[in-house]
Amino acid sequence: MNSEKLIKSSAMYLVALVFIITYNTSFAQKFENLALTPPMGWNSWNHFACDINENIIKQMADKMVSSGMKDAGYVYINIDDCWQGNRDTLGFIHPNPERFPSGIKHLADYVHSKGLKLGIYSCAGNKTCAGYLASRGHEYQDAITFAKWEIDYLKYDWCNTEGLNAIGAYTTMRDALFEAARPIVFSLCEWGNNKPWEWGALVGHLWRTTGDIYNCFDCIKDHGTWKSWGVTYILDMQDGLRKYAGPDHWNDPDMMEVGNGMSINEDRAHFSLWCMLAAPLICGNDLRSMTKDVIDILTNKEVIAIDQDRLGIQGFKYSSNDSIEVWFKPLENNDWAMCVLNRNSESRTFIFDWQKENVVDDIWNISANFKSITYGIKDLWKKKIIGNTDVSFKAEIPGHDVVMLRLIKSTK
Ligand code: GLA
Repeated sequence: MNSEKLIKSSAMYLVALVFIITYNTSFAQKFENLALTPPMGWNSWNHFACDINENIIKQMADKMVSSGMKDAGYVYINIDDCWQGNRDTLGFIHPNPERFPSGIKHLADYVHSKGLKLGIYSCAGNKTCAGYLASRGHEYQDAITFAKWEIDYLKYDWCNTEGLNAIGAYTTMRDALFEAARPIVFSLCEWGNNKPWEWGALVGHLWRTTGDIYNCFDCIKDHGTWKSWGVTYILDMQDGLRKYAGPDHWNDPDMMEVGNGMSINEDRAHFSLWCMLAAPLICGNDLRSMTKDVIDILTNKEVIAIDQDRLGIQGFKYSSNDSIEVWFKPLENNDWAMCVLNRNSESRTFIFDWQKENVVDDIWNISANFKSITYGIKDLWKKKIIGNTDVSFKAEIPGHDVVMLRLIKSTK
């Protein structure tokens, strides 16, 4: 090859290389690794609904720090529906000036100054579920706005979406967020209508699996055209979904109702079960008026550690007899979490002879062999070691309550 030919072919090679690199990197995708463990935070909807303003959001950030919740791992302060005002002549959205007179960027600065992160809400449809401006037709513009405001988390709802394809609509917003170039956790709130567990991992970091939660342990609230669901109903709807969840892509059984009026036993059971499900732990109560019992539930670090375990494996129901359910969840270092739920309203005696049980997670191929391995047992609500798996376990479990254990593989 003469030198002219060599230069020519090298130049062509270079052009091709630049083309490939540019083309490949221009593919939008979700921001990876923003939720390696289930996101933890607070959201305004369950307690405040539309009754929100910037002072409330700031007070929640203050309380998240002073209550010890930040230390326990909570990070996100998420504004839900009803923050929206109007679009300007160029189509950019602005917050409601009465509720958020200082603007969202100001709020983001405040929340960030506390070492926390700010989340916001929008909807794929023409209007949000509460009837405010939504993002349909403005996806890229809204993503730019959220990035400019330094938002860290977007919950994206599914009301008023007639004629829209869910995968397409959520992918459009994913791509818009990617182009806006700020890493933002993307929470798909499509209620499980289009099986988001089958496609959500490529689009977002978490997806709602059900309709809205209702602040009651085991009831359904009928709103006429739709229903909201108590804790046990939502729990039952998670059946079959665990294989879809893992680091950076979680099933979301909805924000929590802990501290919103259920009994303390029910709050403890609700929180424990969400941890067994490796669910996002998004609190939905008024942090300013939490009782000590509620703080103790929300900040129990060893229960939170079950949720936040690095393996990111969603737990499974092992058995169900007389409304006593036994749940297991494989953990790092060959430990296990076990949660025994008493769905009866009366207390029950529970006995578990480890030597007769065969606990196998057949999706992730992990088993606990109680015949060859002795596990130490820590009661995570009593916060003490209570024995080991060589001896049967016996407990009295109050109605609508749980016993939550960590089985610690001994190194003998
Ligand atoms: C839907 C969502 C809720 C909440 C409301 C707000 O119902 O599922 O979580 O965001 O909209 O209007």
